[in-house]
Amino acid sequence: MEEIEAQIERFIKEVDENALALYAKASKGKRLRAKLILKIAGESKESFKLAAIVEMIHAASLLHDDVIDEALMRRGSDSINALYGDKTAIMLGDILYSKGFLELVSYDREISKSISDAVAKLSVGEMMDVTLSEKINLDQKLYFEMIYKKTAVLIEATAQSAAYLCGKDSQAFALYGKNLGLAFQIIDDVLDITMSDEQLGKPSLADFKEGKTTLPYIYLFESLNDEDSKKLTSLYKKELTLDESQWIRIKMKERGAILQAIELAQKLGNEALNAIAHDKNSDLERVMRDMIERDF
Ligand code: FPP
Ligand code: MG
Repeated sequence: MEEIEAQIERFIKEVDENALALYAKASKGKRLRAKLILKIAGESKESFKLAAIVEMIHAASLLHDDVIDEALMRRGSDSINALYGDKTAIMLGDILYSKGFLELVSYDREISKSISDAVAKLSVGEMMDVTLSEKINLDQKLYFEMIYKKTAVLIEATAQSAAYLCGKDSQAFALYGKNLGLAFQIIDDVLDITMSDEQLGKPSLADFKEGKTTLPYIYLFESLNDEDSKKLTSLYKKELTLDESQWIRIKMKERGAILQAIELAQKLGNEALNAIAHDKNSDLERVMRDMIERDF
């Protein structure tokens, strides 16, 4: 992974030294997409560079997302917009993703097309997320379309491109990436409810307050009686008291909404593993198992 960090730094430095200094202040994350590329395609100059490109595009999307969400924390640290303001965060994002695209065009058309198509969908996914956050959404289909575009599509294109790079079955790996991405986002949505502020590195139960009716909330609404449904509706987009937070968490457990979401993520995870079972890649199995088999 050090090679990838170094490659990202070289790419940014080629554009601008100041941007590199700024990028150093951004939190770096788990590098899930980079790991995926190395585990599918193995280590080579080409795969290191592709991993750096995808991570730069992903980092750009998060820089912009934190401005859009007005988020002051990212992975337990101050976000770039919190530290230096929205304009700087947007411009750093622009540098990262335009340099990412510049480097992407030297790859085969299948790869450059797959990644750039994913970024267009990613942007639509973010727009859907913002629009869906205007009022309570109980439509599962819209939720799944949104998380597919916002999260799964780039992971799908990443896995597909990595497979293409090393001559593996890119369709099978695309399916693995898609289901991994969907499961990842569903679990992220579960953790927002089940984890503490400390465990998350940002305030918990933030989704509902930000207007996001994530899958556990959709399931919960489906299972509540009229009185409780009214109560949950009244808490939408509200700063919650300790009692109200506690009430949401209790109802989520009591009505099985959390478990229902986890079970769906696990089902998607297993479908992902089936898609690449022929590859017998224990590392890729572990990526998935670490994500779906954990304490909530
Ligand atoms: C995080 O969602 C957001 C994304 C994964 C996608 C953001 C996409 C854009 C801003 C489109 C622009 C794209 C580029 C390349 C500049 P979240 O808010 O649910 O997750 P969080 O809790 O990590 O913030
Ligand atoms: Mg966000």
